[in-house]
Order: sequence, then structure tokens, then C-alpha cells
Amino acid sequence: MITLKRPHEIALMRQANRIVAEILDQLIAAAKPGVSSLELDRLAEELTLMKGARPAFKGYKPHAVEYRHSLCVSINNEIVHGIPSAKRRLKEGDIVGLDFGVCYEGYFGDAARTIGIGTVSESARRLMRVTRDALYAGIEQARVGNRISDIARAIQTTAESAGYSVVTDFAGHGIGRKLHEEPQVPNYFRPGMPNPRLQEGMVLAIEPMVNEGVADLEILADGWTAVTADGKLSAHFEHSIAITNAGPEILSESNKDV
Ligand code: MF3
Ligand code: CO
Repeated sequence: MITLKRPHEIALMRQANRIVAEILDQLIAAAKPGVSSLELDRLAEELTLMKGARPAFKGYKPHAVEYRHSLCVSINNEIVHGIPSAKRRLKEGDIVGLDFGVCYEGYFGDAARTIGIGTVSESARRLMRVTRDALYAGIEQARVGNRISDIARAIQTTAESAGYSVVTDFAGHGIGRKLHEEPQVPNYFRPGMPNPRLQEGMVLAIEPMVNEGVADLEILADGWTAVTADGKLSAHFEHSIAITNAGPEILSESNKDV
């Protein structure tokens, strides 16, 4: 069942996602060569509690292994769900996906951005740019009367026409009183997939994961980290958006990010 949000609920989700966007800004400012992914996780958690929210990912257990951190830090060939570690220090030239969510007043916010550390290769910059473009192309289709497939196809076309592949093993999702709600928001579309029509009051987390090489992935022995099967780079961008009669409203957009 897809829950439609009333204006006062969207107002709370605006606040939750503003917290997410502000903390992502602060994490990005702190993400310098030599900083460990665990230090970023600690900072994310500290800032979350200061803002009166709680980390959305910590304690999440969709399968056998619980997620014990507040932030996902996915570096280079890691696609999503990279687990923070004191041993993993950022270095010049890395591309780093920061995926972060909070719960505030009972409502969730969820967003991700991929950034370069210091000077990164032109090819890595292009991958990040196209992935962000794919997210915005998907958001552009998040309109009353369109369907999930309009979002999915816009993302897939943007990524594939640049020569990349979209990850099919993970998808975006509805978001609200739970981190993951219906509908699923895949980054590709095949006939026969569930394809609801978009309505005013739906709130979706749209999150393309785009690979330089093949779409295939492997999950590491930690039970979480998804890596590209061919070892090539991957990028990830995510926004939580509300569908309104006036068009999509990006709830997790930073004033620094536009
Ligand atoms: N944005 C990701 C998602 O929606 C983050 C989940 S991390 C988890 O799936 F630990 F909470 F699973
Ligand atoms: Co998400």
C-alpha cells in the first residue's frame, strides 16, 4: 500500500530532509584526505543528535546482519552500503558516496551524494556528473499522472546514453513514517514490473547507482558492502522528493548543492 502524505506530514518531512541535507554539507566539508570513514560516521551521528533527530540506518536489519552505523560510505568500486571503518582513510583521487538518513518527529529523510577527494580523474568526474544528471532527470518525471516507469526510464536513458550501466539489484523507495515504503522506484524498467501512477502526496526517495562498467555486483563478507563485479567505479546520488500538483519538490536539496 502506498501512503499519501498530507501537507502537515510533508512539512515534517521537509524538516527531516533539511537536517539530512545540512549534515551532508558538513560531512562533505570534513571529507579530506586522511579522514577515516568512521570519523565521518561519528560526526554524522553527533550532528544528528544535536539537531534532535535520530540516525535512520543505525540498527536497521532487513536481513541477517544489522547495520550498526549512521552513515554509509562507499568508496570508488563500492556501490552502496559501505560500512564505516577506522582503517579506511580517504585519499586524494577517491570518489566517495555518502548516504545518510534521519528520523525526525516520526518521519524519515534520506539522501546521498558522491564527491571527489581533492583532484579526481576526468572520467570519475564524468561518472559523478552523469549520475547526478540521471537523478535530476528522474525527479523531473515525478509528476502527477506519470508512472514509476517514467522516472525509471529517464534515469536509465541518462546513464546508458553516456555509456554507463544502472544497478538493478537495488532501487529507490517510498519514504515516510518508515525508511522504506512502497512503491519501489527502480532505476530501470521492464514490462511486467509494478508500475503505479504517481499521485499528489507521494514521497519518494529516488536513488540511481551508476557503474562505469558492468551492472553486476557482489556483496562483501561483511553482509553489506556492495561492490562492482568488475572493480570499476560506481556513483550514487539520492534525493527524497514530494509529488505536488505544482510538480516535484526536492525535500533534501541543500542550498549549497544547487
Ligand atoms: N539510502 C539507502 C537505502 O535507502 C540506505 C540504506 S542503509 C541501511 O537503502 F543501512 F539502512 F540499510
Ligand atoms: Co534510500
